Amino acid sequence: MRVAGLIRAVALIFTLVAMWVFYRSYVSFGRKTIRLPRWLGMSSKETRLPKTKCGLSKSCLDNFFAFKISSGAANVVGPSMCFENEIIMSPVRNNVGRGLNIAVVNGSTGHLLRKGSFDMYSGDPERLMSFLAEIPDGTLVLVASYDDPGTKMNDKIRTLFTNLGSSYAKQLGFRDSWVFVGAKDLKYKSPFEQFLKNNPQTNKYEGWPELLELEGCVPRKIF
Ligand SMILES: *[C@@H]1O[C@H](CO)[C@@H](O)[C@H](O)[C@H]1NC(C)=O
Repeated sequence: MRVAGLIRAVALIFTLVAMWVFYRSYVSFGRKTIRLPRWLGMSSKETRLPKTKCGLSKSCLDNFFAFKISSGAANVVGPSMCFENEIIMSPVRNNVGRGLNIAVVNGSTGHLLRKGSFDMYSGDPERLMSFLAEIPDGTLVLVASYDDPGTKMNDKIRTLFTNLGSSYAKQLGFRDSWVFVGAKDLKYKSPFEQFLKNNPQTNKYEGWPELLELEGCVPRKIF
């Protein structure tokens, strides 16, 4: 009986010590696993902080403006536009709409002069025509599509965009994706343009092509 009691006591002490050791190592292991993601989280937050304007992979030279434009995703997520590190249009700013989203900036100072959203499915295309016709000289024009930029598109609007340096405005149609940076009276085709035709065979989303992103450095106009 005494031996059995002694064995029980030893077993109990052993169990307590084992639990304590396990608890210690579990807790320190737990701390490590908590510390690791926190550290990773901080480092990824640090790398996410845009060191360059608009978070571009490379900074722009002095006589260039940084920009990043994203078209809308299907009819779900609105487009966004960053120019010189300022989000000028985005769903968060609640200043985008379906159709075409357009911002006009002064080509030498980079200041935002005007912006607008134009419903190209059920809106009045005359609104867009006068907006484009009244774009002042010496300006840059940023464009992002959302959902449907094409239904109310007409030849007059296509010509106005073509005069800003667009290559794809001529064929812009129902639910195409389009992002573009042009300039008033540009004498050549803008290199800053992306276009994706709505095609049920290749669409990323059922009724819409993939969203498009465009970023880069656009030269400042020096007068
Ligand atoms: C752009 O800014 C320059 C310098 O301030 C100014 O002279 C010019 O009139 C501006 N252009 C437009 C279209 O606002």
